[in-house]
Amino acid sequence: MAGNWNAGFGTIERGVGDTMTIGIERAACIGGGVIGSGWAARFILNGVEVSVFDPDPETGRKVGEVLDNAGRAFARLFGDGRPAPGKLRIAASVAEAVDGAGFIQESVPERLDLKRTVLAEVDAAAPPDAVIASSTSGLLPTDMQRDLAHPGRMLVGHPFNPVYLLPLVEVVGGRATSPGVVERACGAYASIGMKPVVVRKEIDAFIGDRLQEALWREALWLVHDGVATVEDIDNVIRYSFGLRWAQMGVFQVYRVAGGEAGMRHFMEQFGPCLEWPWTKLTDVPDLDDALVDTISNQSDAQAAGLSIRELERIRDDNLIGIMQALERTGESGWGAGVLLRDAKRSMRDRVGSIREGAAR
Ligand SMILES: NC(=O)c1ccc[n+]([C@@H]2O[C@H](COP(=O)([O-])OP(=O)(O)OC[C@H]3O[C@@H](n4cnc5c(N)ncnc54)[C@H](O)[C@@H]3O)[C@@H](O)[C@H]2O)c1
Repeated sequence: MAGNWNAGFGTIERGVGDTMTIGIERAACIGGGVIGSGWAARFILNGVEVSVFDPDPETGRKVGEVLDNAGRAFARLFGDGRPAPGKLRIAASVAEAVDGAGFIQESVPERLDLKRTVLAEVDAAAPPDAVIASSTSGLLPTDMQRDLAHPGRMLVGHPFNPVYLLPLVEVVGGRATSPGVVERACGAYASIGMKPVVVRKEIDAFIGDRLQEALWREALWLVHDGVATVEDIDNVIRYSFGLRWAQMGVFQVYRVAGGEAGMRHFMEQFGPCLEWPWTKLTDVPDLDDALVDTISNQSDAQAAGLSIRELERIRDDNLIGIMQALERTGESGWGAGVLLRDAKRSMRDRVGSIREGAAR
């Protein structure tokens, strides 16, 4: 696996994290909302040329605003070692956007019929070697592949918001996806500083959203039953296990909580609570007007007048601080901090080789 894939895919570089990277030269983003513009920003700030297609006439402004926030975050995270940003083009059609693109990321609304139509349009117009990934939060790639002439090159690449800062992407192949395409997608994502995790069995909502939904369901019940306000619940998370999760996840944190006897002891101690049970499992509160009003009003009060853009900047600064702290753990960093170190090194190498090339 070496050399150029096509016009849009570059060459294999050295690893970021534990994945071999495959540089992308041109990408296309189909859908430029919250997630599509986050993808565009991540590609552009990693030096990749991007075309965005979205029928919304405000797309240029919206992508521009996200790019401003992302550029500010990248400057804080990577300082001077950043590559020159790739060019942004707002395309007038799907066909124009995918022209010459080696990697295509679809981020249109979460409706299977719409995804199928848009993906078929992408498949018909994209260069033959291009990889087509969907940002879907939970639809199955096998279902989305149904109407494609070349389903082998389609898979899911599920990111987390803000896409330009959070490194994880869940990579999920469908029944028709070629194994080589999963590998190429992982390499491409690693080349823009991401951590691809391949989901081993196709399953609705993959891993991250299944875990988040379980927690969210429980949180909705706690508000519904008057046990806590939305702010109480957020405080419980951000002053305790939220801090632990960012650096060790759930299993390793519990291993440590088991003391010297480790995980086995932890499971003996807390395993029985699972049977009582403490939680509401899959029962869902009725999201009637009263509950939606309670949650929206409490959430407005919690925001204390801060706009979404202001909250985004605060969120970004906090994420940067956490990743930088993880970068300083031990000699080689920890978790997302290891990835940040690798991404910085890879960016410095790229900037260095561009400068060397220019000097020759
Ligand atoms: N918001 C999140 O936190 C999040 C996280 C991960 C994945 N996702 C997934 O990303 C996808 C997009 O979600 P979002 O939050 O960005 O939604 P969004 O509503 O912010 O953006 C969707 C965009 O798609 C555009 N669009 C509609 N029809 C289109 C078409 N035919 N061609 C091109 N563009 C079209 C809309 O104009 C809109 O700008 C969904 O599949 C969602 O599940 C969302």
